[in-house]
Amino acid sequence: MSVKISPSILSSDFLNLIPDIKRLEDAGIDMLHLDVMDGIFVPNISFGVPVIDSIKKHTSLPLDIHLMIDRPHRYIEAFAKYADYLGIHFEAGSDVAETLKKIRECGPKACLTIKPCTKPQEIFPLLPLCDMVLVMSVEPGFGGQSFMPSALDKLTALKNEIERQGLNILLEVDGGINKETAADAVNAGADVLVAGSFLFSDKMNENIAFLKSL
Ligand code: DX5
Ligand code: ZN
Repeated sequence: MSVKISPSILSSDFLNLIPDIKRLEDAGIDMLHLDVMDGIFVPNISFGVPVIDSIKKHTSLPLDIHLMIDRPHRYIEAFAKYADYLGIHFEAGSDVAETLKKIRECGPKACLTIKPCTKPQEIFPLLPLCDMVLVMSVEPGFGGQSFMPSALDKLTALKNEIERQGLNILLEVDGGINKETAADAVNAGADVLVAGSFLFSDKMNENIAFLKSL
C-alpha cells in the first residue's frame, strides 16, 4: 500500500483556499487535514465549523479533522457531519473511550491522537476503538516546526501492537514532514503523512510528487 497524503491547510492563504484545494485535488492527494484549535488545549486559535462548512461545499475530498480542543466530547456531533476521519486528543480531558465510540456512532472513522509527551503504550487498550491513530511529531498548535525524531519509535511500537492485536488501523504522523523526514516516518510505519508548510509553498506539485514516490 502506498503512503497516503493529507495536506494541512493551516499554512495556506485562507483567502486563496479554493484554488489551492483544486490544485491539491488535481495532484491526487488522499484527504484534507483540517486543524481545529481552541486557544485552550493549544496556544493558538485556527478555525471551526463555519469554515469547514464552506470547505465541504467546494470539495469532495475526504476530510480528516484534527480537533485540538479541550473536552472534545462536547463537539463531536458538530464536526461529525463534515468528517470522514474525526480525531480527538488522548490528553484533552474527555472520557476517551466514550468519545471514540460516539464518533463512530455519529458516522466518521475514529482517530485517536497523541502529543509528544504521551507514550504509545498508554493507548494500547484503546486501539480496538480506533480506525486511525495520529502520532504528533511536533507540539500541537503551530505549523512550520521541526520534526521530533522521538515520533519514529512511537510509530513502530504502534505498528507492532496494531499487528499483534490484529486490527485494521491507519497510522498517521503530523508535524515537520518534509524531504528530510518523510521517508523515516514511512519506514517507521506511517501510512498517512500530514504535511502543511512543505506543501503550501511554491513547490506544491513537486513536493506532493516526492511524498507520493515514497
Ligand atoms: C500542528 C498541526 C499540523 C500542522 C503541520 O498542530 O496539527 O497539522 O499544520 O504543519 P507542518 O507540516 O508545517 O509541520
Ligand atoms: Zn494536524
